[in-house]
Amino acid sequence: MSKVVCTSYLFPEEVERLEAAGHDASVYEGEGPIPRDRLIAELAGAEALICQLVDRIDAEFLDAASRLRIAANVAVGYENVDVAAARERDIVVTNTPDVLTEATADLTFALLLGAARRIAEADATVRRGEFPAWGLEQELTGIDVFGKTLGIVGMGRIGLAVARRGRFGFGMQVLYHNRTRRRAAEEELGAEFVPLDRLLAESDFVCVHVPLTDETRHLIGSGELARMKPTAILINVARGPVVDEEALVRALDAGEIAGAGLDVYEREPEVHPRLLDLRECVVLAPHLGSATRETRRSMARLAVDNVLAVLSGQPPLTPVN
Ligand code: DGY
Repeated sequence: MSKVVCTSYLFPEEVERLEAAGHDASVYEGEGPIPRDRLIAELAGAEALICQLVDRIDAEFLDAASRLRIAANVAVGYENVDVAAARERDIVVTNTPDVLTEATADLTFALLLGAARRIAEADATVRRGEFPAWGLEQELTGIDVFGKTLGIVGMGRIGLAVARRGRFGFGMQVLYHNRTRRRAAEEELGAEFVPLDRLLAESDFVCVHVPLTDETRHLIGSGELARMKPTAILINVARGPVVDEEALVRALDAGEIAGAGLDVYEREPEVHPRLLDLRECVVLAPHLGSATRETRRSMARLAVDNVLAVLSGQPPLTPVN
């Protein structure tokens, strides 16, 4: 029997699968992230960990978990885990790719449409009991989406799923920027591989889908924002620090771009106070990319599949190291 520590709520059917395989599942049931000292104490004797983006799994932490064999991160991103330190200690790290691709792409489009058509402002207006009079320059007039140019920064799984929505759902022309060319995407979508500068200058909607690395931190800063069209909208569902938030606020204030749809923030869960004031064509969500009932169940299932595989001596399904 192995001890499996889970840092936050786990669906009962997944707890049952762990127990049916003979493991002892210890699930933290407190509010918010598990306190670090509590987690370190829990890990004594644990062979598997199921963790979240908010749990910092660093070398100090791994040293305290001398029997740990796997850290299964319930997210596709894993910048919260020191993967090199885990490798040095022969600890497998896994993530949950694929199962959240479509939900995250849906959320990307929800923000894109929400910002372009000013849905959050419209909702607040109606709830205040107001109903703007119809007119050619009606209050809450937004920006067309259909047939516009969609710029995808990072044509990975999620970028591609967003591009498909744009191309086939909204008749958009797709430009993309990526480390390597994605010829299959070009054939399927007629997408054009372009330098970042050109993508920024020509896109009506710029969607950021790169992971956070030393190279992508502040990939979109004041220079990049200045290159965008004044009518363009920036969407970030990747990681907050990929966009220089201070520069974004300045660009929105100065009218250098028309709006933004954000699901992630530089100092999450803190949100830049000025972003909270900016309403026109600005939509903010609290990191909901994968937050659908079905997808969260699939993520939990995949994390548990990884744990069960490693504990039974099998290779993990979705390793990152
Ligand atoms: C991920 O999986 O990395 C997402 O950001 C979580 O919603």
